[in-house]
Amino acid sequence: MSTLIKNGRIITAGEDFVADIFVEGEAISAIGKSLPMHADTTIDAKGKLVLPGGIDPHVHLDMPFMGTFSSDDYTSGTSAALFGGTTMVIDFVLQTQGKSLYNALETWQGRSNGKALCDYSFHMAVTDFNENTKAEIAKMINNEGITSFKTFMAYKGSLMIDDRQMVGLMQEVKKQGGMVTVHATNGDMIDFLVQKNRAEGNLAPLFHYLSQPEITESEASGRFADMAYYTGVPAYIVHMTCEGALNQVRSAARRNQKVFAETCIQYLLLDASLYEQNFDGAKWVMSPPLRQKKDQEALWGGINQGTVQIVATDHCPFKWEQKLMGKSDFSKIPNGMPGIEPRMELLFSEGVNKGRISLNKFVEVSSTNAAKIFGMFPKKGSIAVGSDADIVIFDPNEEHTLSAKTHHMNVDYSGYEGWKVKGKVKTVLMRGQVAVDDNSMKVKPGYGKFVKRNKVNGIV
Ligand code: URP
Ligand code: ZN
Ligand code: ZN
Repeated sequence: MSTLIKNGRIITAGEDFVADIFVEGEAISAIGKSLPMHADTTIDAKGKLVLPGGIDPHVHLDMPFMGTFSSDDYTSGTSAALFGGTTMVIDFVLQTQGKSLYNALETWQGRSNGKALCDYSFHMAVTDFNENTKAEIAKMINNEGITSFKTFMAYKGSLMIDDRQMVGLMQEVKKQGGMVTVHATNGDMIDFLVQKNRAEGNLAPLFHYLSQPEITESEASGRFADMAYYTGVPAYIVHMTCEGALNQVRSAARRNQKVFAETCIQYLLLDASLYEQNFDGAKWVMSPPLRQKKDQEALWGGINQGTVQIVATDHCPFKWEQKLMGKSDFSKIPNGMPGIEPRMELLFSEGVNKGRISLNKFVEVSSTNAAKIFGMFPKKGSIAVGSDADIVIFDPNEEHTLSAKTHHMNVDYSGYEGWKVKGKVKTVLMRGQVAVDDNSMKVKPGYGKFVKRNKVNGIV
């Protein structure tokens, strides 16, 4: 099976040139001007951008959370990812406190085996660090190819670990060649504010936002960076939302520490004014919450300075009937919003088209940096000879409107309903196979493979 993509404008994190790409089997075998090869399939990409498949390193598929499950499973979620130009996702396995990491891994394997359409990997969320789980870290890295370990400094009572566990985990992960990632908000402070608001009868979605002020995130981000500095572990902050947290990463950089930072598309584009509309604000109830316009400016600045390396989604959709679980109490609204499908098009339209980021930066933060930071480069995240042929053919001029009526995510609302977007995913190759062509899915559940990742050392 071979494919020739002709005359496209190839954009990588560092290059921008017009050429042909020859794909044999699952990988790219040649790149050059007017390639002479004959292929089983030829795609004319003249006038189109040819990009490495997107990598979204922060998704929650079929995840048990807050008394329900995120509404996209491995089939609907990875299908929506492909429609949006994302060819690889990294999901989170959540350890149940009191049980082993392997117990959780087997549960997630049961949810994903044979169901995914795009490639995927797992982060292991350690919610109970003890002598038993400590012994499993090396096995996760060496046997399973799971090299990143997620921690929660919030969600007190279910997922949160304390600083004692954090430091112990960091030391072990450092020793074994992995990375520690974090949901960095101060869980005790949030718990206090949530209970205070509930006691005072402040129950609308707005109080979800008011219970997680910026300081809860900047404090925890700084504390996490300090513990990572002490232990020397490669460190990564997920879903960063605000200037205060970003400044903690900048402070860490001043002592020559590298802390990776990920933001999500919604934190760049949406703000907390959305919570000011009765229960409708529940659509955007997530943790951390949306912030202020000044935080959006800070995050765009952080991307351009190289302080924020990744734009992910934290895709965690819940249908409206699930959001209604918190109709009379904001603390019961399942936290999360959909985003896996529109991420690339939104980032292109709002980022590149509006002059906020360059085309190369777009590729870097939507694909290449995730591959590098999480131990998959250059197999993933690039257009190069030998790399997996995960390729997006993108029309930079096609305009369309985002809507729950047309998206493929299994959720009955869009956080961006009616948004006009310029730039559209036309064709997606997933390891050499045409997976999406003109809004139609060409691969079946089970085509997506689990990707074992390499050890990481925090140097990219
Ligand atoms: O609200 C969110 N972000 N839900 C998913 C879980 C998490 O904290 O990432
Ligand atoms: Zn989180
Ligand atoms: Zn998340």
